Amino acid sequence: MNTAEVAAVVLAAGLGTRMKSELPKVLHPIASRAMVLHVLAAAAELDPAKSVVVVGPDMEQVAKAVAPHRTVVQHERLGTADAVKAAREALADFRRGTVLVLFGDTPMITSATLRRMLDARAAGASVAVLGFRPEDPSGYGRLLQDGKGRLAAIVEDRDATEEQRAIGLCNSGVMAVDAARLFSLVDRVGKNNARGEFYLTDIIGLASAEGLDCAVVEADADELMGVDSRAALARAEAAWQKARRRRAMDEGATLLDPDSVWFSYDTKLGSDVVIGPNVFFGPGVTVEDHVEILSFCHFHTATIERGAIVGPFARLRPGAVIGRDAHVGNFVEIKNAVLGEGAKANHLSYVGDTDVGAKTNIGAGTITCNYDGYLKHRTVIGKSAFIGSNTAIVAPVTIGDGAVIGAGSTVVRDVPADSLTIARGEQVDMPGRAKALREKLEQQKRAQKKEQAKKDKS
Ligand code: UD1
Ligand code: MG
Repeated sequence: MNTAEVAAVVLAAGLGTRMKSELPKVLHPIASRAMVLHVLAAAAELDPAKSVVVVGPDMEQVAKAVAPHRTVVQHERLGTADAVKAAREALADFRRGTVLVLFGDTPMITSATLRRMLDARAAGASVAVLGFRPEDPSGYGRLLQDGKGRLAAIVEDRDATEEQRAIGLCNSGVMAVDAARLFSLVDRVGKNNARGEFYLTDIIGLASAEGLDCAVVEADADELMGVDSRAALARAEAAWQKARRRRAMDEGATLLDPDSVWFSYDTKLGSDVVIGPNVFFGPGVTVEDHVEILSFCHFHTATIERGAIVGPFARLRPGAVIGRDAHVGNFVEIKNAVLGEGAKANHLSYVGDTDVGAKTNIGAGTITCNYDGYLKHRTVIGKSAFIGSNTAIVAPVTIGDGAVIGAGSTVVRDVPADSLTIARGEQVDMPGRAKALREKLEQQKRAQKKEQAKKDKS
């Protein structure tokens, strides 16, 4: 029997009532990715023959999120053993090897730990259970061991005696089960318990009574916390971020204030990257080597190329590409736009749906007017151009290489290369007229005061 041949079953049909949310529990994100997708990603590293997600009725949203993984529907939520039964057909051709049962609400699980479960199977266990010792064990099933330290049964918190509740070793929910025995065990589970549910945990008592070897693999509590509430979600997020910050530093990034830098599951950081305080990485961000990110930045689906300097207070939205050695400064928003090598947009600008050539300077307050209320339009700015401060560029517009646009311009037509273009109202000077205006206004003010004094007397 090849215990290393794996099928993963992820249970995700629970209502998650304790989350008090319209969103199914397993779709709540950790590090910008739905919990259930974290679980599937960990399982995927074992290269499973198949992965099946058990969802409840009316949970198309979950099915969509986990696609192309197969989903099966548990029609009534009768407990975790019943949920496994819903995967029977999907696993009909998987009768040898190991079925890994995972919970969609235990998102921190790592593939390294799952491999240790497979090792326990290879060492002869029919069922391996992943245990942990949480600070507060209340709510978790307790692992009961016999005199020889072998796993004898699992008792749920609600069904446990005082004595059993004092046991610190808890069930994470993850199990590795001999595929040939899984369904015969699950079919014999009853529902004579406090919740009147079919508990998957009961297969341990059944298996050990049959003389089958049941093993416990212990792992870190942070990795195995179950997320049933918003508070637990925040705890899981904090634990995930803590580990990721550590990894970023181990891999050669400087984090000035690690606790205030937030990563996504897929953030890619080069080496010798320096990140200031209060920086948020949404999904899809790549940061190349020698990039400096100053404080208070927000990024989503963006690439920052080698040597660029971004921030403070910069926002990069989907499709932003900041070229090598380019600079993006404070209060600059960049969306679906490419800044060429060495280009600069240092102050107070919106650059959207735009290509900016190498070494071009975007002056303070430049706005690319990319949206006319109906459609988005593109702006193309060539190399080594200079866009004066407070310029509005009404797309679609192309500005040629080396062009200089005067400050305060509103550019509505294409600008040829090397043109000096000024598109604003002419300046009109009227010498002496300011003085005359002041005298006139002062006279008016005096007259008004006199009038008021008369009224007050009468
Ligand atoms: C479960 C375990 C408990 C363990 C804890 C770890 C059982 C009976 N109890 O309790 O021993 O310590 O997890 O976090 O297994 N689900 C379904 N269909 C159902 C019921 C649940 O798919 O009918 C899914 C849920 O979506 C969830 C998982 O199974 O992903 C666990 O269910 P949950 O209700 O959270 O169980 P716990 O009370 O946490
Ligand atoms: Mg749970």
